Formats: sequence, C-alpha cells, structure tokens
Amino acid sequence: MLGRMIRLAKAARAKAYAPYSGYKVGCCLRGESGRLFAGCNVENAAYPQGQCAEASAIGALVAAGDRRILECVVVGAGALITPCGGCRQRLREFATPGLPVHLCGPRALRRTVTLGELLPMSFGPDHLKKR
Ligand code: THU
Repeated sequence: MLGRMIRLAKAARAKAYAPYSGYKVGCCLRGESGRLFAGCNVENAAYPQGQCAEASAIGALVAAGDRRILECVVVGAGALITPCGGCRQRLREFATPGLPVHLCGPRALRRTVTLGELLPMSFGPDHLKKR
C-alpha cells in the first residue's frame, strides 16, 4: 500500500503547477474507506492564493465522502520535505497525532514521522465540543 501511495504522490507531483517557486510537491492520503487521494500544489500569480499539495489531496478526500486520514505521503525534492505549518493543522482536522507522515524525495522514502511529532500539543475539533 505504501508503495502505491508513493507512486500516486509522485504522479501528482509531476502534474504540479508551480511556475513561481519551481518547487513541485505531491501528496497522497489514505482515507478510512481505504481509498487513496492524491494532490499537487497549485500556485497562483497572486502568490497567497496558491495551494499546497496536502490541501489539494484533503479536498479530494473530503469531496469523496471520507472524513478520516489514516496515512499520508508527501514527495518533494531537495532538503527533506516536511509539511508547512498550515498543512500540519489541515491534516490534524481529520487525523490523530499518531498519523504516519511519510516524507519522500523524488526517488524514495526518506523518513517517517507522526503528525504528533510535527504538530505537538495541537488544537483540534475536540476543543470545540460543547460540554
Ligand atoms: N508546498 C506544498 O505543496 N507542500 C508542502 O508540504 C510544502 C510546500 C508548496 C507550496 C508552494 O507551492 C511551494 O511548495 C513552495 O513553497
């Protein structure tokens, strides 16, 4: 399954629209249904309107009806890629701190960390539960 996820993330990365940064990213998420959802970064001439690969993949997962993220793969070149702060919080919405996040280079898996390591003491949906 991990191999398939990495392949899908790489394929999405190849389609990334990143003319401004030149930094292409691909992401693949496994939802609670077992389905896999890939996404890439989509930049914009109005820079702040650009979207990360993780956000694209989360949109596909949610639109397909899934609500939980069980595994995450991110692929980027250069120094070890790690999701940006905003995307750590986006992932947190649909995952537990134990979520495995596989950090990959263009060719292979480099390191696996948990979302809890990336975003300790996080704020999440439970904080908003009415008592
Ligand atoms: N980017 C992602 O898509 N995901 C990450 O985890 C890190 C950064 C994108 C945003 C922007 O299009 C480009 O990489 C450079 O920051």
